[in-house]
Amino acid sequence: MTREPKPGTKGPAAKPRIGFVGCGLIAGMHAGLLAACGEDYQIVAAFDPDSKRCGDFAEQWGAAPAASAADVVDRSDAVYVCTWTSEHAAVVDTVVGAGRHVFCEKPLAFDAAAAAAMAERVAEAGVVNMVGLILRSTPAMLALREMIHSPDSGRVMNVVFRDDQYLPIQGMYGSDWRGDQSRAGRGALLEHSIHDLDLLEWLAGPVASIAASQHFFHGLDRIEDSISCLLRYESGATATLTSVWHDITSRPSQRRIEVFCERALYTLDGEWTGPLHWERVDGDEVTRGSIEGDAMTDWLSQRSIEPRWPPAVFLRAIRDGGAATPAFADAIRAHELVDAAYRSAEIGGAAVDATRATARPL
Ligand SMILES: NC(=O)c1ccc[n+]([C@@H]2O[C@H](COP(=O)([O-])OP(=O)(O)OC[C@H]3O[C@@H](n4cnc5c(N)ncnc54)[C@H](O)[C@@H]3O)[C@@H](O)[C@H]2O)c1
Repeated sequence: MTREPKPGTKGPAAKPRIGFVGCGLIAGMHAGLLAACGEDYQIVAAFDPDSKRCGDFAEQWGAAPAASAADVVDRSDAVYVCTWTSEHAAVVDTVVGAGRHVFCEKPLAFDAAAAAAMAERVAEAGVVNMVGLILRSTPAMLALREMIHSPDSGRVMNVVFRDDQYLPIQGMYGSDWRGDQSRAGRGALLEHSIHDLDLLEWLAGPVASIAASQHFFHGLDRIEDSISCLLRYESGATATLTSVWHDITSRPSQRRIEVFCERALYTLDGEWTGPLHWERVDGDEVTRGSIEGDAMTDWLSQRSIEPRWPPAVFLRAIRDGGAATPAFADAIRAHELVDAAYRSAEIGGAAVDATRATARPL
């Protein structure tokens, strides 16, 4: 017999009732990931002030359209917050004020101070909380991290990280809010490449300082469309991050990461399942190889590393108790790195201190 959970119960729920606030592009992606994750759940309610979006989403995923965020919260055990960024804090407050578990998209807020306040709020509420920095969980990133930390590679020396997409107010994003500072906060770095700064530290260790230079080719107020960052790690390694929003409409979102270690070069194209190429030297012997798709997940399994599909992590934490990562508290650090880059860009590109203020382990 299926036990019917009571909405609002923080304890184990056999079949958590999921609500969505915000029914745009990423909400659809999360609903699709939930459908593929193999866990038991039900999408019960959805709200978006754009009634067509709300209705389409509700119909596609078998949910009831709701009249407000509070209405979604009333009917759910856990809520995905998928609005544009300026609304995240208020909606999260409504969700956790009622004791519901929460998944909130990145960026949590416009800056680290606001993100930290949200992390404190969810911690006080004692609910499962998770943030959409989901690239840490992909097979490709897990494999890259494992390879660069192999003793055969030697120390990480230098990382080249390129992230480009067309200005996402067009094409499949079609989101005018990404060109509006009052709703997006900032441009390419905060809105998109917060993922990349999060990954750069998660992959290669604590960042000590950042220097950055930004530009506004599209003339959008405070929405930078080109930014370059030079990161200096505590280890002495360095990384460069290039993030650009262009008008090459054939390129919706591309990431390419090259990691130079003392005895190995790793090149990742394809942030989910590769391909990941390597070229490694051992004495006189040079090995080159490449891995992608199922072979990559098999390679990880052989090393007891299971890709942590975000919806499964979230649902299991709700069912079994415990934490879901990356949690809100983990996102504060990514926000600190973003803030440091903007601070540098605003003073003309001088390096600024980016040492960890929050003292959380990676
Ligand atoms: N993790 C990722 O890789 C990733 C990818 C894309 C977007 N995002 C993030 O997800 C969020 C949404 O992005 P998107 O691409 O889905 O945007 P979108 O424009 O497709 O959808 C956002 C929706 O939020 C709705 N909305 C605005 N205010 C609302 C409110 N108060 N209550 C309910 N709905 C409200 C809008 O009407 C819109 O339909 C942003 O914070 C974005 O940065 C994350």
